[in-house]
Amino acid sequence: MNDDLKTVIEEISRLDKLKLYGRVKAIQGLLIEIEGLGERLAIGERCHLEVRGRSSVTCEIIGFRDNRALAMPFGPLDGVGLGSRALVGESQASAYPNEKWLGRVINALGDPLDGGPPVPKGAEAYPLCASPPPAHQRKRVSGKIDLGVRSINTFITCCRGQRMGIFSGSGVGKSILMSMLTRHSTADVIVLGLIGERGREVKEFIEEDLGPEGLARSVLVVATSNESALMRRQAAFMTMAVAEYFRDQGRDVLCLMDSITRFAMALREIGLSAGEPPASKGYTPTVFSEMPKLLERAGPGIGQGSITGLFTVLVEGDDHNEPISDSVRGIVDGHIVLDRTIAERNRYPAINILRSVSRTLPTCNSADENRIIDRARSLMAVYEDMAELIRLGAYRHGSDPAVDEAIRYHQGMEKFLSQNKQDKACLEEGYRELANILDIPIEEIVEDSITPVDNESRVGNSANAVGGETPTVPAAAAPPTPTDNLVQKDPDALPNSQEHRISSAASDVENEPLASAPEPIHSGDRS
Ligand SMILES: Nc1ncnc2c1ncn2[C@@H]1O[C@H](COP(=O)(O)OP(=O)(O)OP(=O)(O)O)[C@@H](O)[C@H]1O
Ligand SMILES: [Mg+2]
Repeated sequence: MNDDLKTVIEEISRLDKLKLYGRVKAIQGLLIEIEGLGERLAIGERCHLEVRGRSSVTCEIIGFRDNRALAMPFGPLDGVGLGSRALVGESQASAYPNEKWLGRVINALGDPLDGGPPVPKGAEAYPLCASPPPAHQRKRVSGKIDLGVRSINTFITCCRGQRMGIFSGSGVGKSILMSMLTRHSTADVIVLGLIGERGREVKEFIEEDLGPEGLARSVLVVATSNESALMRRQAAFMTMAVAEYFRDQGRDVLCLMDSITRFAMALREIGLSAGEPPASKGYTPTVFSEMPKLLERAGPGIGQGSITGLFTVLVEGDDHNEPISDSVRGIVDGHIVLDRTIAERNRYPAINILRSVSRTLPTCNSADENRIIDRARSLMAVYEDMAELIRLGAYRHGSDPAVDEAIRYHQGMEKFLSQNKQDKACLEEGYRELANILDIPIEEIVEDSITPVDNESRVGNSANAVGGETPTVPAAAAPPTPTDNLVQKDPDALPNSQEHRISSAASDVENEPLASAPEPIHSGDRS
């Protein structure tokens, strides 16, 4: 090669790469109109606005109008003005998760928030807006997962790859329940997205709830309430992308998101800025099309790993039929309802068992396990029907044997359902404890009939499969009846007084006259 040609090639290689840019023509609120890029941009693509004194503000294209691209920023727009250059950025946002992300706290862009070094990039790109695995190739929801919370393990049992919503009004205990799940569950990896929640809670969560041990098997993705709508939305996508990476490594991932409502609110903000018409409660139509896309990404994978998803839903005004609750309830495979009246009685976690459902039940349970929980549910239902009268002292003891029986077991069950934040419960123990409280002789329950947590007879592979052709649990889905024919200890042993006023608060079972009935005739491990 002659010297002249060599010089020209070197000069060319020193030239900046071709940069396409347009100009800012209007800014309205958080909406930026960019002119000059015409057909070069598409929805979801990025561009970078040049700002004097700072490198740039990254934006995402959310629509088009009159030949102009409409963009929304990921950060503050200070310093951006008319005529600012808008450089075309990457076309598909991706994360590059890596094993070393475990133990780290990152933001929606994958930058560290824990003061540590930058998180190392993995080899494979995980698109932030990935599609869920094809439905027909996915494995089936399978095998129970021990979430470490007694009431959920027993009554609202969750399987690997199942998706559940935790629904409640504000301040009823969603975040604290989430922290219990993070700390006590037996999942291999936990990916936790704190979306649009309070900044204060992040540090508390890491130091008090997770601790060094919990953090070591977790990745935290955080976008607090003060961050832009795009950052909040992207934090949810990032959480899912990280969970997908660990699922593809064959791990059982527990993906927790607090809260999906804040994600929906971010979508609403973006939709309204783009000029979408508000539909239900101001939520735009894209909110309801985007939510299933996100939630469907959790679930079993094509290979070994799975993503079990638990998503909190802030129920506005305690109205469980408000649009977001309604929509999420229709997508997920079960709902855990937290009840303000139960929290007011100081019984935590304030789960309303009768209103909560796991859609993998009863098929994931053995027949004996179903017998125990059906019996407990029926007693709860009878008590619930009469609760007001009992509290007012208007129920006359002896009027109805079913109600007398429900009253008798009420305190024991309330105690069973209460759990301190620090205490870990074991899935298998739960059924035995409950059988003991309900005076179902433990010898009646064949040892093997308590399903081991890690049994290989996963739901999807067994005859008990969810949606399987030949479920073997007989009539377990039938509504529970108070006239269950279980053997009980001394069902007529009721207290002497004719009338009782039952305290609604969960108090020590030993101190209550109703609970001081004769000791069970069998030995057990009641807690
Ligand atoms: N397991 C628990 N034990 C004791 N107190 C609890 C428990 N769970 C919740 N609480 C009480 O309820 C309060 C609110 O809990 P938490 O912050 O989890 O509610 P939230 O539903 O996440 O609220 P928000 O919707 O405002 O985020 C706590 O500050 C605490 O006082
Ligand atoms: Mg909260």
